[in-house]
Amino acid sequence: MGFNLAILISGRGSNMLNIVEACNNKTLSSKVKIVISNNKNSSVLTKVEKKGIKTKIILENQINKFEKKLSQTLHEEKINFVCLAGFMRILSKGFLCNWEKKIINIHPSILPAFKGLNAVKKALEKKVKYTGCTIHYVDKGVDTGEIIDQRIVKVLKTDNEEKLAKKILKEEHILYIKVIKTLEKEKENDKIRQ
Ligand code: GAR
Repeated sequence: MGFNLAILISGRGSNMLNIVEACNNKTLSSKVKIVISNNKNSSVLTKVEKKGIKTKIILENQINKFEKKLSQTLHEEKINFVCLAGFMRILSKGFLCNWEKKIINIHPSILPAFKGLNAVKKALEKKVKYTGCTIHYVDKGVDTGEIIDQRIVKVLKTDNEEKLAKKILKEEHILYIKVIKTLEKEKENDKIRQ
């Protein structure tokens, strides 16, 4: 059965494309109903449209106006699960209370370390030996929601921010599919139990 997914992005969209691919090739049983960007320069939207996926750009500076349009779109598309994938806006408590445990985010660090912006740079500055990525439920804090799963990356002496971010991104792509698959199974099991 899977989810009716919406994916929210702000930029490059490699995680988003990876999820779309996994849904299209049936690795996942969910369906990506819409990709929403808050960035009008998201050229990746053209790419995903060619794969038959609906896209929408929502440009609103005021968060309440943004969330009103977002809610309307999610409702229209009958979305029951939302993946944030490089989406760089903080959603408000008021919005999130209607979506408890229905929105997940990927972050390029082993949370709770290095929350917020520039997580890869911060990890290098702290000279950690290992970093990685985390998928967590979204709550009103910044990268504070319940952790679902993580993957580890070893930091090499030769790593700069670009190299390390690239290694982490590779793990992010694996992690996102694994987590959605697990949540799809949980949803199925919940249905059977009802
Ligand atoms: C990813 O590394 C993701 O973890 C990060 O932005 C990148 C988006 O890449 N997200 C955050 O830093 C959120 N706090 P993508 O657009 O190619 O998927």
